[in-house]
Amino acid sequence: MSSVVGIDQISFHTSNHFFDLRSLAEHQETDPNKYYEGIGQEKMGMAAHDEDIVTMAAEAAYPLVQGDDSAAISSLLFATETGIDQSKAAGIYVHRLLGLSNNCRVVELKQACFSATAALQMACALVARQPEKKVLVIASDIARYELNTPGEATQGCGAVAMLVTANPRLVEIDPEVGNHVEDVMDFWRPNYRKTALVDGKYSTKIYLRSLKRAWENFQAVSSLNFNDFSHFCYHLPFSRMAQKAHQHLAKVNKTTLTPEQLEAQIADTLVYNRIIGNSYTASMYIGLASLLENSAENLAGQRIGFFSYGSGSVAEYFSGKVVSGYEAHLFTADHAALLQARQPLSYEEYIHLYHAPDPTDGGEHVIPVSTKGRFRLASISHHKREYVAL
Ligand code: HMG
Repeated sequence: MSSVVGIDQISFHTSNHFFDLRSLAEHQETDPNKYYEGIGQEKMGMAAHDEDIVTMAAEAAYPLVQGDDSAAISSLLFATETGIDQSKAAGIYVHRLLGLSNNCRVVELKQACFSATAALQMACALVARQPEKKVLVIASDIARYELNTPGEATQGCGAVAMLVTANPRLVEIDPEVGNHVEDVMDFWRPNYRKTALVDGKYSTKIYLRSLKRAWENFQAVSSLNFNDFSHFCYHLPFSRMAQKAHQHLAKVNKTTLTPEQLEAQIADTLVYNRIIGNSYTASMYIGLASLLENSAENLAGQRIGFFSYGSGSVAEYFSGKVVSGYEAHLFTADHAALLQARQPLSYEEYIHLYHAPDPTDGGEHVIPVSTKGRFRLASISHHKREYVAL
């Protein structure tokens, strides 16, 4: 049995449209630096009505299932907190759109932004048990807050897909983890609401407290300490949160590193998040793709620390090692092209998209073609969502 398991490939997708926070600041007659610097965000993805967690997920995973060995995918674990059905797993639509084997297990996982990490750890355990198999982990979410609230500028959307295998080509995941769980109401979304309820300042406090406690729990089981890590990936509700978190962890560990050295340990993880926004479950892993694809130095052999946080709350600290030759297995150019091709929304268009009613059942509700992606939600008929490949 192989004990070396981890991320073999990683790919992400986001919406065709984005809204620039400069336009939001202009409308609010506030300083754009409140967003660009204060929360560290420039743009946020806005899903159109034919884009949702399924279309973004299928698009993210598409490049990972093109080889003949996609038949070896034995499970598809789909993490989200933007569920489209109370019963059926969103991953089943993705399974069909991607033409995966009928002998594949599909399930949806939920715990706010944390569940992608649960999916990754479960995937590693499944692959350790059957090293000839592969597990497809997908995280896909649309972050929506009320207009004219502090959360508004931290909206966004995106999906990430990771192929988890034995002897992975990108990142080996270490088995040791540190957890911290507590029952708190910092952010939640009851079934009858489209937007999240959030106690913003409290949520950042709980995030930092959970980081310290999960790290302490990690230290109790891992021989790795702060100085063993060259880079750190944090859950990214907005970029400044990661900067604050990293300073907090550095202080807990009484580091002698300068503020510039600390910033260098996370800067490359923030590049995509700054222009996509919060993608909840996907955000830390889009941060990992950002690090691997934007780092000027070769990361082979270096250790990365991961802090995953999901409100409510569950936190996990874990680690991974970058594999030699990883740079040959990335989708850097595709991701650059995707982000480059997105279309900006004016404030009026943003508001129109924000308020447009959710597609519901019935032929009279034709869903306009908007996405430039391969997959779209075409209609809802007899209460069945119809996804098509373009
Ligand atoms: P806010 O009202 O923007 O806060 O809300 P603020 O007024 O404190 O401003 C933020 C920063 O901007 C401050 O800097 C200001 O000084 C600065 P800081 O003190 O933090 O260093 N600032 C400026 N900087 C430059 N130029 C200027 C300027 N003006 C002000 N002109 C808050 C911030 C996070 C509360 C809000 O965005 C929010 O409610 N967000 C949603 C909740 C959230 O993201 N929480 C994060 C932790 S919980 C989490 O991560 C889980 C989550 O992803 C959900 C899940 O798990 O499913 C959310």
